[in-house]
Amino acid sequence: SEISKGTYPYYMLKEIDEQPAVMRRIVDAYLPADGSVSVDPALVQALDQADRLYIVAAGTSYHAGLVGARLFEEVAGLPAEAYLASEFGYHMPLLSQHPFFLLLSQSGETADSREVLVKVKKMGYPVLTMTNTAGSTLSREADYTMLLHAGPEIAVASTKAYTAQIGVQAVLAKALGMYRQQPAANDFALRHQLSIAAAGMQTLVDEKDQIKNLVGQYMPDQHDAFYIGRGADYPLSLEAALKLKEVSYVHTEGFAAGELKHGTIALISEDTPVLAFITDDATAAHTRSNLQETEARGAHTLSIVSEHLAEPTDNIVLPDVDPRLSALVGIIPAQLIAYYTALGKGLDVDKPRNLAKSVTVE
Ligand code: G6P
Repeated sequence: SEISKGTYPYYMLKEIDEQPAVMRRIVDAYLPADGSVSVDPALVQALDQADRLYIVAAGTSYHAGLVGARLFEEVAGLPAEAYLASEFGYHMPLLSQHPFFLLLSQSGETADSREVLVKVKKMGYPVLTMTNTAGSTLSREADYTMLLHAGPEIAVASTKAYTAQIGVQAVLAKALGMYRQQPAANDFALRHQLSIAAAGMQTLVDEKDQIKNLVGQYMPDQHDAFYIGRGADYPLSLEAALKLKEVSYVHTEGFAAGELKHGTIALISEDTPVLAFITDDATAAHTRSNLQETEARGAHTLSIVSEHLAEPTDNIVLPDVDPRLSALVGIIPAQLIAYYTALGKGLDVDKPRNLAKSVTVE
């Protein structure tokens, strides 16, 4: 059953492995073969009335929101931004004329997110909750709800809920973009592209021994590590860094690759691991030179690169997918790096110290 570990030593590894199947479930739930999108028409019409989408979430869900915001802008032409729930609840930005709120939450119970939901509902604004938990508080209290279909996620570190949140946000962006007759949405064959992404994710989980070996070379006894990337690879770096720090206790930061030289590069010393995502055509060369700058200061560099941009010396090659979905494949090696680093240290991968699966206090 879905809530047994089966032959897996930890739920985290099982849940990493399930991600291609989760993508296929999202395809089955929302994307019929005729090219349409099965999303509540009332939701799409309400969202069409909005002039700005405020995506509000915490932790890993916030990182999925950062990816989603770009999808809504690029596919549906709707200005969108992601916010941390704990900040937004008490320090709201100046809102647009017709705001629409998207609450992203695996558990549907996070107190920081609920606080925002209650406040914006009181202000009279429409709210959609995307959650993995049908019947959860956030889904009951919202005007609209969409299910992630990731199945029960037991490990404290979120993996399959992150990729599901990206997939379901892509579904809604596609539905809105088609309703608005945006060329970018009509050209986005999401059913096909999510299937390609699922196959790419499968290739990566099948090659997990390669990641295990790299972790053996890069991670022993490290106190600090960095993930860097530009464009879509920047929010991906934030999530990759969170995975590594929360399960392995290696202090890890995610940085915009171009910003390193404006301060953070001072932290790079002999053998500091610096891991770069390179999936974005426009900035691949820049990120490569940023990575070399760290290598010149002693860093132990590791490149995670899309197939069409890969060079023979790159360490991890990501199967090519639609660039709007690059995080779906990019995150898999980072989840595995986090898992094997924690495992190598003999830690309880599924229950990192000080963390809870859902945090019901503000
Ligand atoms: C907790 C968990 C994180 C999670 C965050 C948001 O801090 O440890 O893994 O990302 O809450 O949870 P949610 O259920 O709202 O997505």
